[in-house]
Amino acid sequence: MPRVLITGGAGFIGSHTIAALLEAGYDLVVIDSFVNSSELALQRVMEIASLDAKNTSNRLEVTRGDIREKSTLEKLFINAKRQGRPLDAVIHFAGLKSVRESVQYPLNYWDVNVNGTCCLLAMMQKYNCRSLIFSSSATIYGDVSAVPISESELISPINPYGNTKAAVEQILLDLSRSDADWKITSLRYFNPVGAHPSGRIGECPLGSPNNLFPLVSDVASGRKKILRVYGGDWPTPDKTCIRDYIHVMDLAEGHLAALNHLIAERTNFLVLNLGSGIGHSVLEVVNEFEKSTKTEIPYEIVDRRIGDTAITVADPQKAKKILGWETKKSLGNMCIDTWRWQKENPNGYASEHRQ
Ligand code: NAD
Ligand code: WQD
Repeated sequence: MPRVLITGGAGFIGSHTIAALLEAGYDLVVIDSFVNSSELALQRVMEIASLDAKNTSNRLEVTRGDIREKSTLEKLFINAKRQGRPLDAVIHFAGLKSVRESVQYPLNYWDVNVNGTCCLLAMMQKYNCRSLIFSSSATIYGDVSAVPISESELISPINPYGNTKAAVEQILLDLSRSDADWKITSLRYFNPVGAHPSGRIGECPLGSPNNLFPLVSDVASGRKKILRVYGGDWPTPDKTCIRDYIHVMDLAEGHLAALNHLIAERTNFLVLNLGSGIGHSVLEVVNEFEKSTKTEIPYEIVDRRIGDTAITVADPQKAKKILGWETKKSLGNMCIDTWRWQKENPNGYASEHRQ
């Protein structure tokens, strides 16, 4: 089975993807600085994987390190070669992802997301590992009036975080054109939410959350009193914003399909949306969460949040055609799984230390 380096593998999307890749038999090496994650996530991934009585213990090697540290990265490639199982491909999740923080600390975002990616690419080139899947984002489309959004839509990000993702996509395109041996897939995620159905891994941002799902579950649990719904005057049927929420398990399956395709085919550069193609408004999310988890979500409509757009929904047809992948999980699944994760881990991975 091919051996794959996973950067940022302890994070929200990385941990769920690792569970899917172990299940599929892949041999994995992870590097994570744990700046926004916990080592427990990977221990629990191992737990989930071995529940199926698969021999996974020697298929997941974890290193604490920063992708900007040349020597740490180089060691990974050298060790893998020495073990006689060199790295065949990389899935690059490591990065910073808060839009709000990126406005405050743009230099940090450009350093980690862009310079960090360049460090990784240079090392891949040096060790002749030229197959890459990159975590891009629908945020690079900016404020698009026509939905659903296809991959040919203009790239026009409206915040520093989006600028870093767009810059990396440009670097990847340039690199792919420089050498036909590169095989690069950039996956543009829409709004990843939910958690593993086991309740063992889920989203665990280290600071206070800004995103809708973690905030809704904070209100459901009583940790927050009320949800602030940003804007009740948007040009949508119920006047609240519409997004394309994608269950993280579907997203993980999307990575597995993209990796299988990357390895099997000779595609030099590929860009794919990963979304469901279905939009849900903020109030639909609130209502579904209440219904499927039997909780109450008090909310108030407040002013629009700066930088929000009315509707963002993916056109997922290209991924369906090329990968044979599409989402399967409903909004109800997203709510139930988010809620199970929250209930069983009220303080995220830190809950374990308090038991
Ligand atoms: P996350 O913060 O949970 O995971 C990112 C991981 O990268 C963390 O474990 C963090 O510790 C690690 N990391 C950060 N900087 C690092 C560095 N310099 N060296 C090594 N490790 C480092 O985020 P996520 O939600 O899992 O997102 C994964 C990727 O997907 C990111 O690149 C993000 O920008 C992108 N993305 C996320 C979303 C989303 O809404 N979650 C949407 C679109 C794209
Ligand atoms: C969803 C909807 C809010 C919080 C972000 C990033 C994007 C990508 C995914 C990384 C919006 C509304 C939210 C609240 C609310 N990440 N909302 N009250 O902004 O669509 O996308 O995550 O690449 O780059 O920008 O997601 O979850 O923050 O918001 O009313 O307390 O919920 O206005 O309409 P967003 P979100």
